[in-house]
Amino acid sequence: MRTETEHTVYLKDYAPSPYRIVAVDLDFRIGAETTRVTAQLTVEPREDTEPGTPLVLDGDELSLGSIAIDGAPLILSAYAADANGLTVFEPPLRRFVLETEVTLRPEGNTRLMGLYRSSGTWCTQCEPEGFRRITYYLDRPDNLAVFKVRMTAPLDLAPVLLANGNLIDKGDAGDGQHYAVWEDPFPKPAYLFALVAGDLGSITDSFTTASGRKVDLAIYCSHGKENQCLWAMDSLKRSMAWDERRFGREYDLDIFNIVAVSDFNFGAMENKGLNIFNDRLVFAEPETATDANYDGIERVIAHEYFHNWTGNRITCRDWFQLCLKEGLTVYRDQEFTSDERSRAVKRISDVVTLRSAQFPEDGGPLAHPPRPDQYREINNFYTTTVYEKGAEIVRMLATLLGEAGFRKGMDLYFERHDGEATTIEAFLAVFAEANGIDLEQFKTWYLQAGTPRLTVAEQYDADKQTYTLRLRQETPPTPGQPDKAPLVLPIKFGLIGPNGSPMAWSGVSGAEVRDDLIVLKDASAEVTFTGIPSRPVPSLLRGFSAPVILQTEASQQDQLFLARHDSDPFNRWQALQDVGMALALDAISGAPLNDGALTALSQAMSDTLASDSLDNAFKALALSLPDEQLIGRTIGKDIDPDKIHAVRERLLQAVFEPLADQMLGTYNALASSAPYAPDPASTGRRALRNRMLSLLVASDAAGASLLALKQYEGASNMTDRLAALSAASNAGTPDAAGMLANFRTRFGADPLVLDKWLTVTAAAPREGVIEDMKAILADPSFPKTNPNRLRSLVGTFAMGNPTQFARADGAGFRFVTDFVSDVDKVNPQVAARVLTGFRIWPMLESGRREAANAALLALRDKGSLSRNTADILTRMLA
Ligand code: PHE
Ligand code: ZN
Repeated sequence: MRTETEHTVYLKDYAPSPYRIVAVDLDFRIGAETTRVTAQLTVEPREDTEPGTPLVLDGDELSLGSIAIDGAPLILSAYAADANGLTVFEPPLRRFVLETEVTLRPEGNTRLMGLYRSSGTWCTQCEPEGFRRITYYLDRPDNLAVFKVRMTAPLDLAPVLLANGNLIDKGDAGDGQHYAVWEDPFPKPAYLFALVAGDLGSITDSFTTASGRKVDLAIYCSHGKENQCLWAMDSLKRSMAWDERRFGREYDLDIFNIVAVSDFNFGAMENKGLNIFNDRLVFAEPETATDANYDGIERVIAHEYFHNWTGNRITCRDWFQLCLKEGLTVYRDQEFTSDERSRAVKRISDVVTLRSAQFPEDGGPLAHPPRPDQYREINNFYTTTVYEKGAEIVRMLATLLGEAGFRKGMDLYFERHDGEATTIEAFLAVFAEANGIDLEQFKTWYLQAGTPRLTVAEQYDADKQTYTLRLRQETPPTPGQPDKAPLVLPIKFGLIGPNGSPMAWSGVSGAEVRDDLIVLKDASAEVTFTGIPSRPVPSLLRGFSAPVILQTEASQQDQLFLARHDSDPFNRWQALQDVGMALALDAISGAPLNDGALTALSQAMSDTLASDSLDNAFKALALSLPDEQLIGRTIGKDIDPDKIHAVRERLLQAVFEPLADQMLGTYNALASSAPYAPDPASTGRRALRNRMLSLLVASDAAGASLLALKQYEGASNMTDRLAALSAASNAGTPDAAGMLANFRTRFGADPLVLDKWLTVTAAAPREGVIEDMKAILADPSFPKTNPNRLRSLVGTFAMGNPTQFARADGAGFRFVTDFVSDVDKVNPQVAARVLTGFRIWPMLESGRREAANAALLALRDKGSLSRNTADILTRMLA
C-alpha cells in the first residue's frame, strides 16, 4: 500500500516548540479564483533556545510566494520551503516578525480543511490541522497567539466578512472591493481560527450576561433560510443562561456569531466567537425537520457554545489530550439536555448510542484509549471513544465526587488553567486536590482501551440474614494492549424487597460502599449486607453509572420485577431490554420460543404502556427490543446477520402483535391537531405514537400498513411523515416504494430532506438496495462532494444496514470499498469515516468474514490511498 506518508506521532515525544508565535496579523485578499494570504507572525524564541535552532513551521499543500524577517526579504539559503513546511535555518534569537505570502485556491479544496468554498461562501475549517493549509505556522494547540485579521473581498460576492473576536474596522476598498478588520483579544491556538466571507442572510438577537454585559448574537445562513434559524437561536440563549447557572461561566466577548454552511466534514466547530456549523445542525422548521433534528440542533449549539470555556479558554496541550475538551464538553451538553428535558430519557438515549457506536469501536480493530498515546492521522481520532466514552469518564468522576465535589473541582480547573493549553493529568489533579483524594487509579480509564465486563453473582443466607454480592471486572485485550489493569468502577445500586420497596441493611462489609454506591477497585471483591430479612432483588449499575457490560444471574422473573418496581428509570428500561435480549439469544441458539417467557414479556410491555406514572418518551424507549447489531455483538462471534434479522422479526411479532389493540388505542388517543412544537411533552407524545405505528407495522398487525400510508399522507410535520415512511420502508410494506417515490418528488429539492430519503433508502434491509444506491450515485445531479449526502447514503448503509452491508456474497462490502476508493480522492475524511463501518468484520461468521477481508485487501491493493484511509485500513487488517 502506498500512502502519502508513513509517520507515527507519539505522546512520549511531546516537547514544547523552541519558538513561540505570540501575535498573528493576517491579510486575506479574496478573489473569485484565488485568495492571497499575507501573514505577519510575531515570533519569540524560548528562554532556553540555543542560537542556530531552526524555526520549523507546518504547511500543507502551500506554495511560498515571498518571505521576509522584520521587513527584509530572506536570501534563498536562509530558508527551505515546500508544500509541507517552511524552515528558517537561523532565525534571530530575539523577538522578530516573519512575513510570508501564499496564494490559495479555495474552489478546488474538496477536502474541506483550510479555506474552502461552500455554495459560494468562503469559509475555513482548521481543527485539528487545517490552519497549515492557510499559511505556514506552528500548527499545534499549545501555541497561543492573539489574531488580527484583515479581509478584502468583492462586495457583490461577499458582502458579509466575519472572523473571530470583534469587528474593529471596515470600509470601501475601491474597485468594487470592501474590507473588514477583526481582532480577537483572547490568545488562541490556530485551530480556533475562522473566517467567513459570503453573501449571507442572518437573524440577530442579544443576550445579557449575569454581570449585565450585552452580547450581540447572530446566525448567518443562505438567503431565505433565516426563519429556519430561530430554534438554533433559542437554543443558544438557553445554553448561555445554563452555563452561568450550572457552572458559573459567562460569555467573554461582545459578539457571538454562528454561520451555517452546506459542506462540512463534522457537525460543527467552536471557533472563538465564530462557530461554524454544518447546516443540518442549524436549520429547522416543522415541515422539513424532525424532533430528532430539533434535539440535535439544541445539543450541538449547546456543545459548541460550552467549548468557549472547555476547549477555548482552556485548550489542549497536544492532540492526544483531545478528550480533555471533547469528553468534558459532551458531558456538559448531556447535562444541559438533562436539565432542559428529561434526565432519564436523555440517559437512556445516550447509553443506546454508546452501546451502538462506542462499544463496537472499543471491541474491534479500531479500539483505542480515550487518551491515545500514538496516532498516524489525528483526524481519525475524533471518535466516539474520545467523545462519548470521554464523557462517561467525566460522569463517573461526578458520580464518585458528588455534585458539590465535582463542582469544586471544575471551579478550580477554570481558576487554575484559564488561558492555558493543558493535559488530562492537570484536569484530574484539580479534582484530586479540591476533594483531597487520589485519582491515580481512576486515570487508567483514560489510558486503557476496551469495554470492561462486570460480572456479579449473589448469595442470600437466610439463617444469617446476610446478602452477598460477588463482583468481578475484566477488560478484554485490545490492539496493542494485551494486559489490562482493574479500573475504578462506581456502581450505583439498590436492593429491592419483595413488596417492591427499597430494602435497607443494618451493616455492610467488604468493598467500599457509600450510600447507594459501590466503588469497585480490585479485579474482584465482595460486599456483604447484614440484617436482610429475605432475598432482595438487586438493582445494579443504576443510571448506567459506569460504561461496562454487566453480566448478572438475574432470572427473567427478577428482571420483570425490576421492570415493574425499580425506582431507577434507567434500570426499569434496562430490565425490559434484558428480557428481550435473553429471548433473542435463546431463539438464535435454536431453542424453540418459550411461550411462558414470551407472554410474560408481552404482559410487561403492555403494563408499561398502560402505566400512568411513566411518561410518553420513556414508554417509547421501553417498548422496544434490542436492535440487531446489539444482539450480534452480544453473541460476540460468528455472527449471521440474516439469522438475527429473521429471529428479531419473529420476536417483534410474538411480543407486540398480542398488544395490537392496545397499541392502536394508544396511537389514536395520542393524535393531536395542535400546531407543531418541539417541547418535551409534544416530542414525547409523537415519539410514543410513532413507536406504536412502527411496532404495529413491524409486527404485521392487521391494517398497519394502511395506517402508515395514511399517516404519511396526512402528516402535518416531518416527524410524523418520516416516521411513517421509515416504518413502511423497513418493514417493506406494499406501499413503501410508492411512498419513497412520493417523498423524493415532494422534497428532493431540499438537500437536508433529500438526506432523509437517502437514509431511509440506504437502511432498508432488502435485496436490491445496493443497485438502487449505485443508480443514485451514478446520477450526474447527485452532489458527489457533499459530506452530508455521501454519509446519508453510504454511511447509513455501512453502519445501519447489517443484513445488506454484510451480505454473504460480499456485494455490500465491495460496494463500500469501491465507494471509499473513489471518494478518498475527493475527501479523505469522509472516505475514512465510512470505512470504519467494517469494524464489525472480525465477529462475522467465516464466509462473510472472508468476503469482508477480500474486499479490504482489494482496496489495499489498489494503492495510493490517503493517510486517513490508509490508517483505518491498516488497523482494520492488523
Ligand atoms: N471540535 C468540534 C466539536 O466537537 C468537532 C470538529 C472536529 C469539527 C474537527 C471540525 C473538525 O465540537
Ligand atoms: Zn466538541
